[in-house]
Amino acid sequence: MGIYLITGATGGIGTATAELLREHGHDLILAGRSPDRLHKLAGQFAATPYGKTQSFSVTSPGGQPVVPTARHISTITLDLSEPRRMEAALAVVDLPARLDGLIHSAGVTDLGRVAAQDADHWIDQLMINLVGAAELTRLLLPSLRAAAGQVVFVNSGAGLRANPGWSAYAASKHGLKALADSLRAEEPGIRVTSVFPGRTATEMQRKVRAQENAEYRPADYLEPSTVARAILGVIETPADGIVTDLSIRSREGAPFSL
Ligand SMILES: NC(=O)c1ccc[n+]([C@@H]2O[C@H](COP(=O)([O-])OP(=O)(O)OC[C@H]3O[C@@H](n4cnc5c(N)ncnc54)[C@H](OP(=O)(O)O)[C@@H]3O)[C@@H](O)[C@H]2O)c1
Repeated sequence: MGIYLITGATGGIGTATAELLREHGHDLILAGRSPDRLHKLAGQFAATPYGKTQSFSVTSPGGQPVVPTARHISTITLDLSEPRRMEAALAVVDLPARLDGLIHSAGVTDLGRVAAQDADHWIDQLMINLVGAAELTRLLLPSLRAAAGQVVFVNSGAGLRANPGWSAYAASKHGLKALADSLRAEEPGIRVTSVFPGRTATEMQRKVRAQENAEYRPADYLEPSTVARAILGVIETPADGIVTDLSIRSREGAPFSL
């Protein structure tokens, strides 16, 4: 069994992935920007029948309250919009020396045509979706190397094609694919995967549909748990193999644009 750090653990795909990894007996470090939401989530997981009895603690950056939930579930408060502060934040955190996997699921999207997008619109999406992921990966590389671990980037169909109104998000996700490809080539001891989900029934998709002035019907989209299954498959691929890129979309025909 391994230990996995998941960003965006409080979001749709992140929570589903954490739940599944928990069910499969792995230990978790849940990363998010809201200590309250992380507390709640860790408490829910600790109450599940899959729990073990041992615990380790992680100190949250900036002296924020630690969540000492039992059963190998820890939390870490991390705001990916501030990558310059991440090294200092992690320096006061008691992270494990060996990390079997880092799953980047945190992400934001904000639609807008190029003509209407100011610099802040670009900066927010690029910082959280790309620069924050790169910096967190860099800082955790020693632990990942020590465990011959895996890095999974939750990308998007928008990381493979850019549609009108999606430029900043698509640029961040195209960049994320570039980050994954370079990292894979630079670090042969670590397995690196990009997962490209189509539209998935989460808060992000609800917001996207609102921005598209269209109805949000969760049944039209992938279940977050389905994407989580794909991620688990990547993680549980035997060590002689590597899944480099994995696309998954809804069979219901929703466009593969996000
Ligand atoms: N939903 C889709 O249709 C879809 C399709 C393809 C790819 N994706 C990708 O899948 C990943 C997960 O998205 P989702 O659908 O699960 O969306 P979601 O439910 O909105 O979750 C997004 C997660 O990112 C976290 N986050 C946002 N800003 C952050 C910041 N500044 N620092 C740290 N964490 C931050 C959120 O934390 P809070 O709980 O604090 O808000 C939340 O946990 C994203 O990378 C997204 O681009 C989604």
